[in-house]
Amino acid sequence: MSKTYEIGFIGAGSMAKAIGLGFVSKGVVKAEDIIVSAPSENNKAPWRNKGVTVTNDNNQVFSSCKILFLAVKPQHFSYVVSKLNTKNEGIPIKIIVSIMAGIPCKKLNEIFILNSNLNLAPSCVFKVMPNTPSLIGEGFSVICHESCAIPEELSLTLPKVISLMSAIGKAEVIPESLMDAAGALSGCGPAYTFLIIEALVDGAVKQGIPRNLAVQLAASTLAGSSRMVLETGKHTAELKDMVTSAGGSTIAALHALEKGGVRSALMDAIEAATKRSKEMADKP
Ligand SMILES: NC(=O)c1ccc[n+]([C@@H]2O[C@H](COP(=O)([O-])OP(=O)(O)OC[C@H]3O[C@@H](n4cnc5c(N)ncnc54)[C@H](OP(=O)(O)O)[C@@H]3O)[C@@H](O)[C@H]2O)c1
Repeated sequence: MSKTYEIGFIGAGSMAKAIGLGFVSKGVVKAEDIIVSAPSENNKAPWRNKGVTVTNDNNQVFSSCKILFLAVKPQHFSYVVSKLNTKNEGIPIKIIVSIMAGIPCKKLNEIFILNSNLNLAPSCVFKVMPNTPSLIGEGFSVICHESCAIPEELSLTLPKVISLMSAIGKAEVIPESLMDAAGALSGCGPAYTFLIIEALVDGAVKQGIPRNLAVQLAASTLAGSSRMVLETGKHTAELKDMVTSAGGSTIAALHALEKGGVRSALMDAIEAATKRSKEMADKP
């Protein structure tokens, strides 16, 4: 009899690694209880090195895991799903978690509940928008489920999803209508943060600070300031004012940032990512 795995990933890329290898390093799931599939060797080495089972065969994952993470790009989803044996009965899947931007719960339900023989209910299918800091246990995942999911059934599945995602960071259940915007902030956000760090580092290097030191200064300043927001609960304007003395260097820099349109650029970024995520629901 073939082995049953606790967790399966279809897609082995950046986000699957952040989640799956995050689970392993936090000890939530043993590497030997995870199976992952991808068509090429691009991403398999880090999984193999940890002792995870890897395969090219999506149906091997689909037919052997209890909790399935769908972790391919949204534009590959239709093709991937068209090849899955969703008509197979008796496979062990109990929970399906899609981490794909855009693809709505309704579409997942059509595929894995209405048009399949999997014997799943809407309370078994979840959308999760995680982020890459999950790899170091500092992630933030927003979670939603179909509005037609039945509360009693959800009480059996949702805690499992929350507890998995909480093991690699924070997790919050939100309405599906907010998923695209939340993902535009927390899912895409690490990329914005790295870009900001890069720009701050270049600015410091231009002023003569060695690059290594500049990276430490920039990343630690962002991390420490973020912790102040989370731990003090104070409004960001109040925290900003604490640094900004009259006629000083900080206000001069803030003026330069405002002239450069930093606020509106960041607001535009969230708007652009939300819009693109919504578009991918219809046209990945
Ligand atoms: N990256 C993030 O920060 C982030 C955050 C939140 C959500 N997400 C979501 O996570 C999903 C994956 O994103 P990613 O950044 O991890 O992308 P990625 O690094 O490009 O990984 C995509 C994975 O899908 C695999 N794949 C492609 N075609 C496949 C097929 N036919 N069957 C099975 N696997 C296939 C790729 O295989 P190979 O390994 O062979 O190339 C790769 O392992 C996306 O839907 C995205 O919306 C990502």
